[in-house]
Amino acid sequence: MHYTGLIEKYRDRLPVAAGTRPVSLNEGGTPLIELVNLPRLIGKRVRIFAKFEGLNPTGSFKDRGMTMAVTKAVEAGARAIICASTGNTSAAAAAYAARAGIACFVLIPEGKIALGKLAQAMMHGSVVIQIRGNFDDGMRLVQEIAKTMPVSIVNSINPFRLQGQKTIAFEVIEALGDAPDYHALPVGNAGNITAHWIGYSEAVCQNTLACALCEGRCGHHRTKIATRRPIMLGYQAAGAAPLLRGRPVENPETVATAIRIGNPVSWQQAVAAQRESGGWFGECADEEILRVQKLLAQAEGIFCEPASAASVAGLIQDLNAGRVKEGSTIACTLTGHGLKDPDTAIAQCEAPVTVAAERGAIERVIRENLNI
Ligand code: F0G
Repeated sequence: MHYTGLIEKYRDRLPVAAGTRPVSLNEGGTPLIELVNLPRLIGKRVRIFAKFEGLNPTGSFKDRGMTMAVTKAVEAGARAIICASTGNTSAAAAAYAARAGIACFVLIPEGKIALGKLAQAMMHGSVVIQIRGNFDDGMRLVQEIAKTMPVSIVNSINPFRLQGQKTIAFEVIEALGDAPDYHALPVGNAGNITAHWIGYSEAVCQNTLACALCEGRCGHHRTKIATRRPIMLGYQAAGAAPLLRGRPVENPETVATAIRIGNPVSWQQAVAAQRESGGWFGECADEEILRVQKLLAQAEGIFCEPASAASVAGLIQDLNAGRVKEGSTIACTLTGHGLKDPDTAIAQCEAPVTVAAERGAIERVIRENLNI
């Protein structure tokens, strides 16, 4: 059957009514790709699977949350949505607002979002407001503004966002037949780790109690689809690691601009997920994030954005430290596509060679590279 997005697919597990009409771009259904070379390269006997969320319609996992948030906003009669963003949320909000025919306002930190994400927000016709401040300032401002202006917040403090994003867990379970031993992901505003944990928890639950969000219409606890939950591993960039420090970071800084966040709104829920799962938070240096981003691109053919690579970079650290056990099955969420941030990618690579438009010149380059 023609796939029409995650609300249709998981209607019975989401807080939507029978008559709810999804605002969808056929998001979800992303591939779970086994990393076939990396375990050998790092000398570890493990199976690692990448949930490549860069293959969503706007190139990140945000589409999963946005289909729910915008569907519910439209259903409630909203004519405008608003978000603060490090880039991906704004790209998704802009696209889904365009689809729904409503207005979209996005607050972004001036000069600190990747080029592709800025292009998306602009191209989809949202009103892009650059602030002379960081994401945390933007997050505070949208919460204040939504109290007085007719705009609906689509950041992950909107519970429908997390409901959409929890479907990542369902899809991983379907692909593997059960939950993995570990699930690693990057953590910024901490909505996604919270959403993963909701998904994994509902997957093992047979409780038929009414869902608090939909007052019992969804019945999404009905069938158990997994026998266990994974250990959750949340990785932050070293310069933006409030969950590790145990306190907000005033001036977060990292090359992984998507997770350049010092005071995550879902802090408590993220800590709960970590504790309940027996997992932990880790931090990755920017150099390590970039090294692993390139490794995934060159050893596996998967081009994710820097923030996404933090999941695998952190995992490698913890495998080397013996904290993650060999013999395990691990899922890593690669949250966004590498094409979103061409500047950071190009800056890491050697410039292309430029030669005359002659056969001999090109043959020379091939010989040099193949050492023949
Ligand atoms: N990876 C990418 C590519 C992201 O864009 C984000 C968050 C995260 C990971 C972290 O997810 O915030 O749920 O912990 N980006 C948000 C944005 C903040 O505005 O696009 P989180």
